[in-house]
Amino acid sequence: MSAIKLNKHKIFKKTDNVLFYDISIKESNASDLVIHESAAISPPNDDLGNKQFYIHSHQIDNNRVISGSRTFELINFSWDRPYQIVKLNRDSGALKIPLNTYHRSVSGEKGSIVINQAQRDDLFETNKEFRPVSVVKNEKLNNILKTVKPIIYKI
Ligand SMILES: [Fe+2]
Repeated sequence: MSAIKLNKHKIFKKTDNVLFYDISIKESNASDLVIHESAAISPPNDDLGNKQFYIHSHQIDNNRVISGSRTFELINFSWDRPYQIVKLNRDSGALKIPLNTYHRSVSGEKGSIVINQAQRDDLFETNKEFRPVSVVKNEKLNNILKTVKPIIYKI
């Protein structure tokens, strides 16, 4: 399986300097709003400056940039190309991040606003789904970062 799936919006009305977007995602049952005030990183690096990643077992993310730009780094051991990097802006649509995909994101210099139109199952618990994993604690993850050349998408 390969990674990149985008759920595009529909612009359903335009008036002078105003755009109306339909951003509905039928399967979504939760919405998180994540604001980076500057070139912030989610999750932040660990105390020694190593990259950290989130991975969800009970939430599929659909991350949609509303303002600014955000670059997502995705690693999934089951993909043919396990390391993928996607740069999103407001026109990109929502990036779907499947279950069990390590992911982190970095904003452009001016920050970004992202709405995550998530799909949670009944076993979702906030305190379990948002535990950052440092690359130094996961040899397989660290190995991919060091040895695999990422596919880089600009969408
Ligand atoms: Fe996530």
